[in-house]
Amino acid sequence: MKQITDYITNHKQRFLNELISLLKIPSISADPAYSKNVLDAANFVKLSLEKAGCDTVEVHETKGYPIVYGEKFIDKDLPTILVYGHYDVQPPDPIDLWNSPPFEPVIQKTELHPEGAIFARGACDDKGQMYMHVKAMELMVNTNQLPCNVKFMIEGEEEVGSNNLAVYVAENKEKLANDIILISDTGMIANEVPSITTGLRGLSYVEVEVTGPNRDLHSGLYGGAVANPINILTKMITSLQDEDNHITIPGFYDKVEELSKEERAEMAKAPFSLGAYQKALDIESVYGEKGYTTNERNSIRPTLDVNGIWGGYTGEGAKTVIASKAYAKISMRLVPHQDWREITELFKTHFESIAPVGVTVKVTPHHGGQGYVTPIDTIGYKAASKAYQTTFGKKPIPQRSGGSIPIVALFEQELGSKTILMGFGLDSDAIHSPNEHFGVWNYLKGIETIPYFYTYFTELMKDEN
Ligand code: BES
Ligand code: MN
Ligand code: MN
Repeated sequence: MKQITDYITNHKQRFLNELISLLKIPSISADPAYSKNVLDAANFVKLSLEKAGCDTVEVHETKGYPIVYGEKFIDKDLPTILVYGHYDVQPPDPIDLWNSPPFEPVIQKTELHPEGAIFARGACDDKGQMYMHVKAMELMVNTNQLPCNVKFMIEGEEEVGSNNLAVYVAENKEKLANDIILISDTGMIANEVPSITTGLRGLSYVEVEVTGPNRDLHSGLYGGAVANPINILTKMITSLQDEDNHITIPGFYDKVEELSKEERAEMAKAPFSLGAYQKALDIESVYGEKGYTTNERNSIRPTLDVNGIWGGYTGEGAKTVIASKAYAKISMRLVPHQDWREITELFKTHFESIAPVGVTVKVTPHHGGQGYVTPIDTIGYKAASKAYQTTFGKKPIPQRSGGSIPIVALFEQELGSKTILMGFGLDSDAIHSPNEHFGVWNYLKGIETIPYFYTYFTELMKDEN
């Protein structure tokens, strides 16, 4: 439809400017020092939904940051699409590694984004991708081609576990009723290789604390005679994986879904260059669980990773000390059928059981969530696939991702709806890292593709009835 591309061409500069304004707001949900900014971002989203043509927009207060809800209702006999996204972002640390300040967006060309990419925290995760939906809505309303009802639910606590959204969803089932949930908060294989995310991993995130002596000690006077909590902690962590990089926690794999040979062969068809992968990360070799390929390791297999470890003296120079305590933050990415609460329990029991004499161990669960897989024989997937075919000229590849959006499993449980994950980011866009960016081409391609999803989904729903 020429109308869509014309509208985008005519409004492209404004679409970019508006996103840049949103990216200037440091809406870091993890850091209370930025709470006013997070609220400013919520307000920005509210105003933008009103301008895009929603009839009702509400800012729903929660115990944490508000949920922005908007809707445009056309006809009760038409399907309803619920769009979810988040306006909060990860902390930008380490700041020193950014080439330009994280909240002063700049557009710069890169090898993979020859048309330029917007560099800013949240550019891809998820402000840029969420805002594509707001602009797609504006486009459909202004060109008279919105084919169905729309609801928007944009939250501000995704990066810290979506606890209040879970409560909101449970309490507002009727209001949120829908035929399909649509999210752009994932990625695709490459600009020439469109893909649709068909799975997300679950997550269990825990913090561990090992305590030895009641105070920090002189490492000469006491060294060798008492347990050093840092030595012990690293030993304990090392023991959590064996020489094949299998996780050793008893029961950890009991419920893991094993893919059939056929499914794995299907997965292996997705284009992937190990050389390019290694080169992009400056590593000589990949590393991981024996018996699985890189793409299997980062999507269909569960993992255990230390995300941070600290204790003792880490300042300038040297200090001879045996610390009283050592800490680590550990994430476990989970796959279908593993229950995150159960895995958290298994971890806790095991980790406490392997503590040697001379130390005490405390395990504190942080947050978690279930994984998600979606079938590809549904109307939702077919509509998405057709939309990509229209705008990319290629059939998208279904691909399971290693990341997590825990609320997606909850949507299915509470609202009974499936989710379609139409992500337009690339793995190299550096989400959660310094120099996060989002391709200008990807941003506009998303705005172009979304309206087709609406049209095809509405048509396919009609055909079915
Ligand atoms: N958008 C990401 C998740 C993602 C990114 C999934 C790319 C698939 C591909 C989301 O904002 C995120 O960062 N999720 C967290 C979990 C959350 C509970 C903090 C994650 O995956 O670490
Ligand atoms: Mn996200
Ligand atoms: Mn994120």
